[in-house]
Amino acid sequence: MKQQLLLCCLFLAAAMGTVRGQTVRSLAEERGIYFGAAVTFPANPAVYETTLAREFNGLVCENAMKFGNIMTGPTTFSYSEADAIVNFGVSHGMYVRGHTFIWHKQNPTWFMNLNVSRDSAFKIMEQYITSVMTHFRGKIKEWDIVNEAVARDSSGMRLGSGYADESQNSKWAALTDAANHDFDYIDSAFTYARRADSSVLLFYNDYNTEGMGKKADRAYDIVAHLKSLDLVDGVGLQCHFHLSTDSVAGPNGSWSPSELAANLERLAALGLIISFTEVDIRIPNAHTPMTAEDSALLIQQRDEYYTLMKLFLAQPKCRSFFVWGINDAQSWIPDFFDGYGSCLLFSNTAGTNGQFERKTCYYGVLDALSDATGILGNARENYVKMIPATKAANRSFDLLGRTVKDIPFHPRIIVVKPGGAVNEIHP
Ligand code: XIL
Repeated sequence: MKQQLLLCCLFLAAAMGTVRGQTVRSLAEERGIYFGAAVTFPANPAVYETTLAREFNGLVCENAMKFGNIMTGPTTFSYSEADAIVNFGVSHGMYVRGHTFIWHKQNPTWFMNLNVSRDSAFKIMEQYITSVMTHFRGKIKEWDIVNEAVARDSSGMRLGSGYADESQNSKWAALTDAANHDFDYIDSAFTYARRADSSVLLFYNDYNTEGMGKKADRAYDIVAHLKSLDLVDGVGLQCHFHLSTDSVAGPNGSWSPSELAANLERLAALGLIISFTEVDIRIPNAHTPMTAEDSALLIQQRDEYYTLMKLFLAQPKCRSFFVWGINDAQSWIPDFFDGYGSCLLFSNTAGTNGQFERKTCYYGVLDALSDATGILGNARENYVKMIPATKAANRSFDLLGRTVKDIPFHPRIIVVKPGGAVNEIHP
């Protein structure tokens, strides 16, 4: 009996070891998808680089390839930072995305101060896109040509002026008098890109366009139009989310799995490749020390990373799933969404093994990719109990031909210390 128990334990340990020995990179490669991260190398990149190469088979420059970073003057370019990141990716067998050409933000000062004719603006655009694409020829496989052309409030396309918040105005829209020319700067940007390198996949990328609704409809119209001209190959959904609490997708990152699934369906029907380009799922800043409430949020966050990856895997047109950074110290979220953070997969400092540690939400992604089920017999029960009734109703969609109750949940252990502090232990 003792021997049987020992064998059983050994078997269980081996089974779990197989799953835990894997990385998201190895599982992504088995599934033929690209799991990437936005990269900005820190001052001391050793640990960062090890995690990047071990866990990801894709990367994108977080900022280094933006207009303001790369085009220092009307005829001068600065490639060193972007080159370092792209070359790291190429030498580590990673799929490299390009981000981004035509955007209302992070433009160089010389450009923002320009007051030139429509024709001259198009010439600048052509020279910019052609030079940069030529420089990275052969290294970058898919590229965000236009970013965030739909207005934030979803009332229509982003204009050249008139927003109370000036940073919302688009200089490209202003210079090309976009409102009076059917926003043809978008078609032009894609045309220049196609001409510059016909082997690269061209993407339109936006946020709050993941679910259904007005803003997503606008983005859909843009890509449907571009596709009819054979100017676009894919659509990027940024996926800067907070925990899903609504049954419908709302502004500012609330998301609805069923709406996302429906939107993926209609975008795929256009014949487009779909990439999740900037994934992060933010939660309110934790208390110090953490409370049970924080711990519940971490569990929900892992569950949502799991669901997001499952939705991605269930749609054959989805190819790249990129998170917007490796760890929270790098993340843009605390600077842009007051009171929120903890949205990425790895710890900020190295653990005892000298590596960044995998956070709870990392296992949501890992489990979705490995589809590990049944390690503990009551996993399904735990999963069902974990979803509040209102949320369960949201999840009546069917990921793999099953009902919501059959979605496997990989349980983790929570230890509440005396005094109420909570520790999580990953199985
Ligand atoms: C963010 C970067 O992460 C920050 O470091 C920078 O200060 C601002 O831009 N949508 C995009 C990304 O397309 O380029 C943005 O990246 C985040 C929102």
